[in-house]
Amino acid sequence: MITARSKEEILSASRVEEVIGEYVNLKKRGTNYIGLCPFHTEKTPSFNVSPTKGIFKCFGCGKAGDVITFLIEHEKFTYPEALRWLAQKYHITIEETGDTAKDQDDKMLMESLYIINQFAQEYFHSNLYKTEEGETIGLAYFKERGLTEEMIQKFKLGYALQQENAFTITATKSGYQLELLKKAGLVVNRGYSDVDFFHQRVIFPLLNLSGKVVAFAGRIMVKDERSPKYINSPETEIYQKSKLVYGIHQARTSIRQHDECFLTEGYTDVISMHQAGIENVVASSGTSLTDDQIKLIKRFTDNITILYDGDEAGIKAALRGLEMMASQDVNIRVVLLPDGDDPDSFLHKKGSAALREFIRDNKKHFLQFKTEVLMKDAGTDPLKRADVIKEVVGTLALVPDVVRRSILLKEVSRMLDVREQVLITEVNKQRRAKFNKETGAEKFEADALHRELETLPDHREQLYQDRSDELQERDVVRLLLEFGRKEMESAVPVAAYVLNEIRDVSINHMHLRLMIHEIESQMEAGNIPDHHYFLQHHDDELKRLAMEIISSPYVLSENWNKMHDIYIKMPSDNFISDVKSSIARFKMKKIMNMISENLKELNSAKGNAEEEIYFMNVHQRLSQWKQELGKDIGTVIVN
Ligand code: UTP
Ligand code: MN
Repeated sequence: MITARSKEEILSASRVEEVIGEYVNLKKRGTNYIGLCPFHTEKTPSFNVSPTKGIFKCFGCGKAGDVITFLIEHEKFTYPEALRWLAQKYHITIEETGDTAKDQDDKMLMESLYIINQFAQEYFHSNLYKTEEGETIGLAYFKERGLTEEMIQKFKLGYALQQENAFTITATKSGYQLELLKKAGLVVNRGYSDVDFFHQRVIFPLLNLSGKVVAFAGRIMVKDERSPKYINSPETEIYQKSKLVYGIHQARTSIRQHDECFLTEGYTDVISMHQAGIENVVASSGTSLTDDQIKLIKRFTDNITILYDGDEAGIKAALRGLEMMASQDVNIRVVLLPDGDDPDSFLHKKGSAALREFIRDNKKHFLQFKTEVLMKDAGTDPLKRADVIKEVVGTLALVPDVVRRSILLKEVSRMLDVREQVLITEVNKQRRAKFNKETGAEKFEADALHRELETLPDHREQLYQDRSDELQERDVVRLLLEFGRKEMESAVPVAAYVLNEIRDVSINHMHLRLMIHEIESQMEAGNIPDHHYFLQHHDDELKRLAMEIISSPYVLSENWNKMHDIYIKMPSDNFISDVKSSIARFKMKKIMNMISENLKELNSAKGNAEEEIYFMNVHQRLSQWKQELGKDIGTVIVN
């Protein structure tokens, strides 16, 4: 952790106008600065920066905050990342607590690797201009490929000389330790001597999000069957292939502006597209995207448009990647380029206007894409078509966001000519099956419900306004106080069992919530508190509440009894079924409240088709859970 003193130092050194000035063209106006807001589109500046207050505020869109907020919002940094960025800008050495000697060593090593890579990048780049070989082979190659000087600079391109230890000699002469050069993957031992990792290749530095060089890729100059076209630096402490996408540093601003990211396969595709004025583009470097790479892109947009070579392999690759991306909640669209062209070759043949046009006319949603590909295969065979429906529904079921899913559902229903309701049922079936597999069939899943509701945070707030569930909340706390230390059949303490079951459900009653939190943190410290613990509590209200809960007779809502027509057993010596039924009732109550609140929402959404679909979906899901829970309650009671 960064120490308070370091934070203090960083924040006091940071000047809001300097930091924001790196991203926004600011003009002085009195004591303040103004500029065009980077958070929304505007023609007249309403974005204000106040150096004296250390804050910014946009009078157009209302965004406001300090340097840290700005970096978090604009650069999508985490809090510590923002601090580190500032520390670097203002040359402040960060002091951290809890660092072991090993942590310190690791950090030192990483710092050294960055420095060495920076040196190597400058070295490779200067080869293009300062050596004859670099100029006649490397630079000439880039020129022949039509790259402008501007792109060569922007992507810091370079060239590695043919001589097998040219870099090793230069770097060691400049004082870099051989050991570190090897750690950086730039020098390798070939048995007889230490030689350069790259030779006679043009060099594409790989930059991380913040623009530091973490590794290199080198493209071969002469076709050679024995040697791969591109080679990459080995992975190091600062370079993990699966976490990087090529071009993210140069593309990030444009991705955010366009709220879309083009994904290509190759380095040269990215550069050519930049040159053609399309800057929201990155490359996966020839492999299918990993989770981490998607997360990186998702910091800037949820919309990924994949530009693939239109051959069989390209299509298959696309389909595989898409499955994975679907489960990450990104909107994936696909453009298949004609005649096996990649974006780079397309641009050279037809130019940038043609590429934009082609993308516009051929962009397909991935499900549409997948459905088409599969349907074409299936032809008119009804059995095969049924398989396609199953398959497509399988992908649909992976989409976590309910709104997104329902929109896709509509589209697919039209394409497949299948009634929407049929698809909904099928999707829900698959989701439930997946769910049960992951969580164990008997466990009710409150968090999935939450995940769904999270898509509309305001509504979720409202859903929990209802206070009529206090009784059920109390009952759960009663379980904790009364049986916390006993064990369930699985030998898990009741307290742990209960907390896990209610993990994602909000507790409305403030003091009950406090008690639960306290029980949780006590448990983390290895203690399971019972009612005695709270009877000694310094907070009188908690004391009183604990007293009331353990002393008051066990009551159940009469309504509940009537409504469900179920006989509920009073607490008995069988605490396990008491625990289970109390939890089931708690969940049931929460769900019923959600259902009624959701129905209100549905009612007021009349006329807005998209919202209606959303609330209908939520309703369907809630009702389903209610039904399942009802079954559970039934079995618990009978036991
Ligand atoms: P391509 O073979 O399509 O190359 O590989 P390209 O990008 O079009 O390159 P040019 O136009 O011939 O120069 C696509 C990407 O796959 C990775 C690279 O990231 C490349 O940009 N790749 C390819 C490798 O990592 N190693 C290889 O041997 C080949
Ligand atoms: Mn190419």
